[in-house]
Amino acid sequence: MSSQRVCVSDFEEEARKVLPKAVYDYYRSGADDQNTLKDNIAAFDRWYLVPRVLRNVSTVDLSVCVLGEKLSMPVCVAATAMQRMAHPDGETATAKACQAVGTGMMLSSWATSTIEEVMAAMTSTTGTEGVLWLQLYIYKDRELTLSLVRRAEQAGYKAIFVTVDTPYLGKRRDDMRNHFKLPQHLSLSNFSTASLAFSEESYGNDSGLAVYVAKAIDPTLCWDDIAWLKSHTCLPVIVKGVLNGDDAAKAVTYGIDGILVSNHGARQLDGVPATLDVLEEVVKAVQGRCDVYMDGGVRRGTDVLKALALGAKAVFIGRPVLWGLSCQGEQGVIEVLELIKQELRLAMALSGCRSVSEVSRSIVRRMEFISK
Ligand code: FNR
Repeated sequence: MSSQRVCVSDFEEEARKVLPKAVYDYYRSGADDQNTLKDNIAAFDRWYLVPRVLRNVSTVDLSVCVLGEKLSMPVCVAATAMQRMAHPDGETATAKACQAVGTGMMLSSWATSTIEEVMAAMTSTTGTEGVLWLQLYIYKDRELTLSLVRRAEQAGYKAIFVTVDTPYLGKRRDDMRNHFKLPQHLSLSNFSTASLAFSEESYGNDSGLAVYVAKAIDPTLCWDDIAWLKSHTCLPVIVKGVLNGDDAAKAVTYGIDGILVSNHGARQLDGVPATLDVLEEVVKAVQGRCDVYMDGGVRRGTDVLKALALGAKAVFIGRPVLWGLSCQGEQGVIEVLELIKQELRLAMALSGCRSVSEVSRSIVRRMEFISK
């Protein structure tokens, strides 16, 4: 591992230097005043670890089973759009890195690589099928939406994460100022027309992506559409973007296979709580009837441990992967994933947890009296 990069923020600092400003801004930004963006990170400091001692932690097993797949650690890669802006190899590099580290990757509907080529890249490293999940946006055009699902099924993807927090795109000020759009040589590769591939000539003076979403993504989305999606695929369906215990309980009644507690990396509705702070509410509402995952602000091994203690089966990371990809392609993503893995191993050992199943609610405490 590079001696200069010892934590995720070292990767971000380097990425900021190498990326064009509009790309860095797109990756980094949250919505509006970015209060939730800050809070996703700050929340981890409101929770303290209360270790157990004298437990022979000479070996620590980080492995976990996520949606039926054994992974080397409870840290997976969240869907982030347009990864070829970070590195020419984009999503294929991220997929190879996940395979090398033994974890799973959620591919964005808005990838700049196709569903098929990402699976081929992941398989090429070891000859065995990697763990890939498709993140699905539900388009106004339902046949088009289902064609993405079919392609994922055929390519060997293991689950569908349907994003439910984006009926419209959140207001991201930097993207508006930058009139954000894809560089000319790139497109959303899973779509064949310029309008769906986000490669039209002009999007006016707004964020191009906000214009794209308003045109293509379905704001009428409701619970019946979850039932519709479930009826059209045998793959597990996980609802991505739940923050409310009542919604979580409702999702269970629709037979979903998992819930991803997420505020979309604070890029949609500003002013929502940090995901760590609502995780327990969701876990309690679900009562063990499906798995609960979380993402948002996970930057350190201790963050992962706190989320597991509050009931997450595994966590997903978004921006840290983009920073690794920007710094050094596949190798950079491997380094970020290995960094968090080693930090988690140490955090578990120092907390007296020899396996993920030994991580319990009793090792975290929220310090209400500390104001930050
Ligand atoms: C995202 N996210 C996202 N989510 C989704 O469902 N589909 C997508 O295409 C994207 N694209 C995307 C791009 C970028 C640049 C970011 C930063 C995020 C949200 C993502 O899946 C995840 O919820 C957050 O990134 C998690 O927060 P952290 O780890 O970035 O703090």
